[in-house]
Amino acid sequence: MIKKQILGLLLGVILQTTSVWAQNKTKYTAVSLDKKVSALVKKMTLEEKIGQLNQYNGFWDVTGPKPQEGKAAKKYEDLKKGYVGSMLNVKGVKDVRALQKIAVEETRLGIPLLFGFDVIHGYKTISPIPLAESASWDLEAIKASAAMAAEEAGAVGINWTFAPMVDVGRDARWGRVMEGAGEDPYLGSLIAKARIEGFQGDFSSNKNILACAKHFAGYAFSEAGRDYNTVDIGEAVLHNIVLPPFKAAVEAGVLSFMNSFNELNGVPATGNPYLQRKILKGDWAFPGFVVSDWGSILEMQNHGYAKDLKQSAEFAINAGSDMDMESYAYIDHLAELVREGKVKESLIDDAAKRILRTKFLLGLFDDPYKYCDEAHEAATVGKSEFQNTVLDMAKKSIVLLKNTNDLLPLQKSGKKIALIGALAADKTSPLGNWRLAADENTAVSLLEGMKTYSGNELTYAQGALVVTEQPKFPFEALVNTTDKSGFQEAIDLAKKADVVVMVLGEHGMQSGEARSRADIGLPGVQQELLEAVYAVNKNIVLVLQNGRPLAIPWADENIPSIVEAWQLGTQSGNAIAQVLYGDYNPSGKLPMTFPRNVGQVPIYYNHKNTGRPYALDPGTVFWSHYNDEKNAPLYPFGFGLSYAKFEYSDMKLSAATFKSNEKIEVSVTVTNSGKVAGKEVVQLYIRDLVATGTRPVLELKGFEMIELQPNESKKVSFTIDEKLLEFYSANNKWETEKGDFKVFVGGNSAQTLQADFQLVQ
Ligand code: BGC
Repeated sequence: MIKKQILGLLLGVILQTTSVWAQNKTKYTAVSLDKKVSALVKKMTLEEKIGQLNQYNGFWDVTGPKPQEGKAAKKYEDLKKGYVGSMLNVKGVKDVRALQKIAVEETRLGIPLLFGFDVIHGYKTISPIPLAESASWDLEAIKASAAMAAEEAGAVGINWTFAPMVDVGRDARWGRVMEGAGEDPYLGSLIAKARIEGFQGDFSSNKNILACAKHFAGYAFSEAGRDYNTVDIGEAVLHNIVLPPFKAAVEAGVLSFMNSFNELNGVPATGNPYLQRKILKGDWAFPGFVVSDWGSILEMQNHGYAKDLKQSAEFAINAGSDMDMESYAYIDHLAELVREGKVKESLIDDAAKRILRTKFLLGLFDDPYKYCDEAHEAATVGKSEFQNTVLDMAKKSIVLLKNTNDLLPLQKSGKKIALIGALAADKTSPLGNWRLAADENTAVSLLEGMKTYSGNELTYAQGALVVTEQPKFPFEALVNTTDKSGFQEAIDLAKKADVVVMVLGEHGMQSGEARSRADIGLPGVQQELLEAVYAVNKNIVLVLQNGRPLAIPWADENIPSIVEAWQLGTQSGNAIAQVLYGDYNPSGKLPMTFPRNVGQVPIYYNHKNTGRPYALDPGTVFWSHYNDEKNAPLYPFGFGLSYAKFEYSDMKLSAATFKSNEKIEVSVTVTNSGKVAGKEVVQLYIRDLVATGTRPVLELKGFEMIELQPNESKKVSFTIDEKLLEFYSANNKWETEKGDFKVFVGGNSAQTLQADFQLVQ
């Protein structure tokens, strides 16, 4: 008994110190909450506790007649018995209220449900895909975009989003890089925090919903970039690259995690105690709960890890997966496993407590219908203010990749502009992949956006379809690889135009879950179309719409202006048009390296040096390179141009050596030598030259966004201390090793000023 009280107090202390409490406007202290939750759990039968661990997909018409047979009938019965803790994919106040009413008013204990949904880049009003948002490096804008999504989703009854995805992604073949923050753990950690704060706020109103850091862990490292594939990475990569954004998520107060489909070094993540019990719940003292990915508990059988569903349930719960999403493993087998002594009831209690604690913190016990207000729903969904938020975010997400001949910005009048490409008129594709609740055809197309600027003569030709029909969930996007019947019309228009704006790239449904690609060039006949148009008019502005880095070396060599416009959401066309016409000066920087050739992938800026970084005997072959391709990427991490011109000079270090308890300052002067005002993301990188575990050639350690008028200069300074130099070392801990370092400051990872310093005793 005394032991229990001490444990409770200890938990209280841990919880109180996490930012869950720092950020929440909750009436509970950690200790009072723990008391409440424990008292409730005491009242619950084993089956009711397991019920809290059970999540069902809701797909029947909940307001219609009650389902009589099949899975729907079982789910309905379980719901009535109080054997469901959460539903996913139920949306709309009417439906959510109907289910919540059953849980609250018809079950023995009346415990409210969590309603989860993939609000990944907006609900009905769609923001740029997360990779695009990350290109803004603008944490406040990213937070505002998440807050908007939470407000809109919260208004339709959803109280839990399965976002943010914080998987660091190095492989552009993997379609889910569109959902993440790119390849860097430092930037990824800050963006994870911004998104979580945006979604969760302080939980005080129905504008704040529960966030979920996913997919824990290693999912983006699937071999060959093929979704769901095997992951085999060492401890150094796991700790230095994969885990930091997850840790940042815990520190930001996230209260749910989702584990991942992949196996990690031979053990499926869902059944992995090292990840979930040792690291997440142990080392990081995560107070929230872990939900499995869809069916990932049952998939442990396909992995060859569990022999049947019952064993899958045993392994998953013992490993620390608290909630079962659609495997039916917990609801069907946990009680029996407890009775057989294969699963300790205390583990069920712990899982149930984690889920209940979250429900208390969300305020669902005070008001289970907190998210069920029809008037608020009607006033909130599609609110016009949201358009400003997504437009602002979309403009900030655009990256100018090339602008020779100053083709951009376009003149606002007196020009003949030919707009070419199926994506230029597509009002659905810019919504991207995760827009489950958005209506088709609700994005502003670039054709529409450009019409706002009516001083020019604007003509449009499709040129070629990207996909043969609008892809329907859950089917493959069918790429047009043969039909070139529209080429001639496009060529004819291009011949007569002063400037050709070509919108090429991927359809929104070509990236995302299960959308891996082995060829990451322009899909279908688009490369041919580009070359055919170039043959008659070289004044081309290429606008890329895509959900991942593309390998477009020909375009880079030949096309004078290239704009990376990703999938920018509802306001896509307006945002791109404002950038093309110079009403908005682009400031985005790539959060992921663009390769020249898919054969270079995975390619990332923070790679190791290798033993043969150059030819020992110049001209010989024995060094780490390709015989048929450069090592260098097409566009490096952190790269992005502006209509302004930024020059870096005068790098200074306050001292060349410093000790553990000291700091040094590095500064540079940035000057805008261009003709217009612009924003620049000044980036700080370091390199640890010699360490007991080899270190990357560059690591991002800081950045600052500045705005400069023409001819204006600004001194930008960063502080370097021992903490900033830490890494997960060969001693299996985060520490700094004394020695020699380099520091780099610049506008992208490949063009920097540099200096040397030492950390001494
Ligand atoms: C995805 C998750 C998602 C879940 C629920 C899975 O297929 O991997 O990221 O949250 O489905 O829709």
